[in-house]
Amino acid sequence: MGHAEKMRQHNPVIVSEEADLAQAAADAAGELPADQIDPETFFMVQHWELYSEENHDTWRRLYARRIDSLREQASNVFLAGFDAMNFEPDQIPKVTQVNDVLRSKTGWQSRPVPGYLPAKSFFACLAQRKFPTTITIRPPDELDYLPEPDIFHDVFGHVPLHADPVFADFLQTYGKAALHAGPEHVEPLSRLFWFTVEFGLIHEDNRLKIYGSGLMSSIGESVWSLKGDGDKQPERRPFDLKRICDTSFEIDHYQPIYYVLDSFEQLRDAMESYANRVLEAAGQTA
Ligand SMILES: [Fe+2]
Repeated sequence: MGHAEKMRQHNPVIVSEEADLAQAAADAAGELPADQIDPETFFMVQHWELYSEENHDTWRRLYARRIDSLREQASNVFLAGFDAMNFEPDQIPKVTQVNDVLRSKTGWQSRPVPGYLPAKSFFACLAQRKFPTTITIRPPDELDYLPEPDIFHDVFGHVPLHADPVFADFLQTYGKAALHAGPEHVEPLSRLFWFTVEFGLIHEDNRLKIYGSGLMSSIGESVWSLKGDGDKQPERRPFDLKRICDTSFEIDHYQPIYYVLDSFEQLRDAMESYANRVLEAAGQTA
């Protein structure tokens, strides 16, 4: 059984014609010119009543084992957003409630999708302040590692930062640049996403904190990124957009290199000047 089939088997919430159509639209849009992509066709309703007891129990277990260490390790900016969300420890969140919080803070929206989106489709959503939010949850035998995003990764790990106005601007600017950028920017931009949104560290309160979603959802790697393992330490480099864009990454083990921000303003400002260059070359305005 393929992984997609396994996810369907464990997630009644995506077993519908509505889900199939949304996925097909997102898949097809990956090949369209940027100005013809309509993200609204990718989204579905989160039919929350369809989650099984097993689904809620998986959320409860993931939440329970992560929450204490998160308070220690996560950026204050992340935690402020996290607290504003008021997630239930024992129930999968409703994206409508997430959006009630985000509306007044940044205007970002969490929009339900059944599965993985092609890059251009994903960027088109970000450019409109819409975060394609995977509504499935991992099967109980894959608690530790899932090859694709699920609602724990997307909502617990990503969404809290969308409540911060500075990060919110950064992410939209990233989406606009990535949507319109030429092919020579594909790899640099995927590296930028990886070393910030997924695996970023930040200096706060005179110590290191995590803010990347890949670290939020991995207890083991977050300890490695912050403290290392005995004498072995990852390389922690000061944030440098140009250097990040030249740094390749590997996906199947703990990262040997992390980049550390001084502030989210630093990230937003660097992204803005990169985006201006990209969009000017593409004949677009930021
Ligand atoms: Fe992610």
